[in-house]
Amino acid sequence: MEVAIEGSPQQVASLAADAIENLLTSRPDAVLGLATGSSPIGIYDELSRRVAAERVSFKGASAFTLDEYVGLPANHPQRYRTVIEQVFTRKVDIDPSRVHGPDGNAADLEAACAAYEKAIRGIGGIDLQILGIGTDGHIAFNEPSSSLGSRTRIKTLTQQTRLDNSRFFGDHLDAVPTHCLTQGVGTILEARQIVVVATGRAKAEAVHQAVEGPVSAMWPASALQFHPRVLVVLDSAAASRLQ
Ligand code: F6R
Repeated sequence: MEVAIEGSPQQVASLAADAIENLLTSRPDAVLGLATGSSPIGIYDELSRRVAAERVSFKGASAFTLDEYVGLPANHPQRYRTVIEQVFTRKVDIDPSRVHGPDGNAADLEAACAAYEKAIRGIGGIDLQILGIGTDGHIAFNEPSSSLGSRTRIKTLTQQTRLDNSRFFGDHLDAVPTHCLTQGVGTILEARQIVVVATGRAKAEAVHQAVEGPVSAMWPASALQFHPRVLVVLDSAAASRLQ
């Protein structure tokens, strides 16, 4: 695991964006794994600036999102398909038909999970996965106690994650869905390269456990220690618990 500690959230975003730019330069048809949430927003903004400056292009790229809420109506602004479009894909030159996400409104959710795994396998796997990290150490929506070998599946969101995410639902906890579809820890670990970004003191304990803790299902991000190519980009607040 390579850990980079940057002076500001802007520098965090810029270093992470460099990894994606480098990949697309060597492999224009790369398959990207996209995270939602606030952590990668700076990366997406930086990448959209680089597309506008014609430094990088997503024309040949494909993308797969990590997770989706179950049961949000198609027009709900917090559906991750909608969020990723708003914060990233509509701002760059990626073909929208090559942006994929698990279907949280499928009649058969288990079949939707299996289909998602199949789609990722079918394209040859994810080249670079962007990850945020939850305050409780979750990655995607693999909450503490998730199997480290898990695949895309239906999960119940913890109270902590629902509380953390209620800020996106007008601070109405009741409006936050109780379930989601998420890539598993095992699915994520198959990405050929992983870039994790975390900023702010609220992430410090999770970062410490992920980077320095024993590998444990109680801190799912600690499973990243098994991966041969992970770059963790932090600001000093998120790095403040590192030894
Ligand atoms: C989002 C996701 C989550 C977030 C995590 C951190 O697709 O998979 O694991 O990365 O909850 O969220 P933020 O970045 O909002 O602190």
